[in-house]
Amino acid sequence: MKRFILSGALVLFVLVASMMIFQPLISSGAEEVTKNMAASPLLADRHATKKIDCQGCHDPGPPKAVSFDRCFKCHQSYKHVASLTEDLAVNPHESHFGEIECLECHKAHKKSGLYCNKCHEFKMDVP
Ligand code: HEC
Ligand code: HEC
Ligand code: HEC
Ligand code: HEC
Repeated sequence: MKRFILSGALVLFVLVASMMIFQPLISSGAEEVTKNMAASPLLADRHATKKIDCQGCHDPGPPKAVSFDRCFKCHQSYKHVASLTEDLAVNPHESHFGEIECLECHKAHKKSGLYCNKCHEFKMDVP
């Protein structure tokens, strides 16, 4: 039990330490990313152009927040999505972070953003 707590504390320490080291990247990368994304329409609108209406993502009735499993109704699986972007220099769908919720990056009704850039400075637009 004690070892369990100790290793938990170590993981936390490493996480906090790496965030501190990468802190300067966050501010220097942010501006460029927002500028690129300003040009792209929001994801819900992009779905509308593909004939996916509100209820493609929302249950009938007043719309509530959408769980990320919902995305797999049409986008199959994480593996499948990763295969679509496997030719990119850095695959946003396959990384040391594992299977991050889609909504950490893709937002439906506001600007999307690249979760990875909390620490990195990848120049990628997120639809
Ligand atoms: C691609 C899937 C998708 C489509 C299509 C979509 N939404 Fe959403 N909607 C979401 C997600 C995901 C959220 C959670 C917040 C976010 O990520 O923007 C949300 C949140 C909302 C919310 C806020 C609900 C809450 O309680 O937080 C409303 C209202 C809403 N959507 C209305 C609509 C309407 C109206 C349409 C059709 C014009 C629509 N949505 C189409 C995915 C979608
Ligand atoms: C009812 C089916 C459906 C659901 C549910 C759905 N999508 Fe889609 N999505 C599509 C279709 C169809 C397209 C257009 C063809 C394609 O790229 O596969 C698309 C395209 C996309 C694109 C590419 C947009 C572009 O213009 O490049 C992203 C990103 C995306 N979806 C994310 C999501 C996320 C995140 C969710 C969950 C909140 C979601 N989708 C839920 C059907 C759906
Ligand atoms: C770490 C951020 C991140 C997460 C998490 C993420 N995506 Fe993406 N996604 C991106 C980026 C960045 C692109 C654009 C890649 C490019 O430049 O072509 C993209 C592109 C897409 C596309 C279009 C692919 C194509 O080229 O046709 C789809 C569909 C998509 N994502 C669906 C999803 C779904 C579904 C999930 C959850 C299972 C998800 N994404 C999770 C960052 C993310
Ligand atoms: C909490 C901080 C953090 C987040 C968030 C993060 N990474 Fe990393 N990443 C690191 C650290 C630390 C390393 C190892 C040091 C290095 O080599 O830069 C690394 C290394 C990498 C590497 C190999 C080295 C390189 O830069 O080529 C890739 C590729 C990578 N990450 C991709 C991603 C992707 C994709 C995401 C988002 C899905 C992501 N990372 C999110 C901290 C993070």
